[in-house]
Amino acid sequence: MIVNIVKPFLPDMEKIYEKFKLSLSTGLVTNNSENVRLFENKLQDFYKCPFKPSVNCNGQLALYHLIQAWKHKLGYGTHDSFEVLVPSFTFSGTINALVTNNLKPVFCDVDDGLVLDLNKINIDSNEIKMILPVGAYGNLVNLELLQNISVENKLSVILDNAPAFGSKFKNKFPWEFGFSEMISFHATKIFNSMEGGANIVNDSQIADYLLRLRDFGQYEKVRGDIDLPGLNSKMTEICAIVGLANLENIDFILSSRAANVIKYLDFFGKLEAQGKLKTMKVAKQVYCPYLYFPIILNDDATKFVNFMAIKNISVRRYYTATHDLTFYRGKYRSQNLDYTNQIKYNIVAVPVHTIMEDDEISYIFDTISSYNF
Ligand SMILES: Cc1ncc(COP(=O)(O)O)c(C=O)c1O
Repeated sequence: MIVNIVKPFLPDMEKIYEKFKLSLSTGLVTNNSENVRLFENKLQDFYKCPFKPSVNCNGQLALYHLIQAWKHKLGYGTHDSFEVLVPSFTFSGTINALVTNNLKPVFCDVDDGLVLDLNKINIDSNEIKMILPVGAYGNLVNLELLQNISVENKLSVILDNAPAFGSKFKNKFPWEFGFSEMISFHATKIFNSMEGGANIVNDSQIADYLLRLRDFGQYEKVRGDIDLPGLNSKMTEICAIVGLANLENIDFILSSRAANVIKYLDFFGKLEAQGKLKTMKVAKQVYCPYLYFPIILNDDATKFVNFMAIKNISVRRYYTATHDLTFYRGKYRSQNLDYTNQIKYNIVAVPVHTIMEDDEISYIFDTISSYNF
């Protein structure tokens, strides 16, 4: 048996055929046409958010623009800079989006939930103006505590929730706490449109900037004048069509994953009780859809990864300590990174698919049970 790291949930061709055919025949294949607009309406229904989510061609550019929009709102020019508290333990894309916005990451630690350790961060400079937690594996920081910290210290908050479609704290979406979040719809993610991403915000000015930024910054289409230097980050119709078809199945996607995760929690919980590994700690108040199932081994994961590869099960060394990446090493400030440094070589993401046969799950569990920890 072969178990891939991801198996994207995608619609049948018949489901999208008519819409795509129409899109091709009318030539309306991009520029925020019918399906992109419908996709945004349906996302707004799902998130029940006050402003229409703005979709982009991918999560990376959505995050780039979200940071750009906040920077502009705070009164900073393109070449101005400030510091942003961000977990080192994330995907390079998080940090790249800050640095390409000319902002300076301050690498911070994560806790045993693998998300920014809010009890450890230190507002140790007047240069810090923003805090950017990451929804690693779909988990969230305590959004109430985050709200208190941000209000008390006058910090803007952006959530890189690329992996956290539908994640909630105390049954509320992040926008309900006033936060802006970016969600990725990449094929590897919980909910996908092949490529794509969206920003969900609770601020009319930011919502307005985002619509311009994905379209070169244009506010007057006729003359093509701009008031912000945007990019072309528009989603194509075919991605919106696939996203719309998948969104129709979102209850199935989330419930099927949740049912699989219950089995993983039981299996890996037993290994944890035996001291063989650690699992991600998800607070009771958090609804976490689990993008992958991360496990923290007691030592370097290379031997485990190789063992799984021989058994045809792909696992992923994800996320990573970004402060250690070649480009970032020694370049920016760090705070205490004890836990990140402790786990960075030991963590492995085990696949959880939306559709998984029982024998696939059994094969993963039997294989791991036979591993000599
Ligand atoms: C934390 C994080 N941020 C940003 C991104 C970028 O999203 P996308 O792949 O949709 O560009 C990813 C994607 O893996 C991610 O995991």
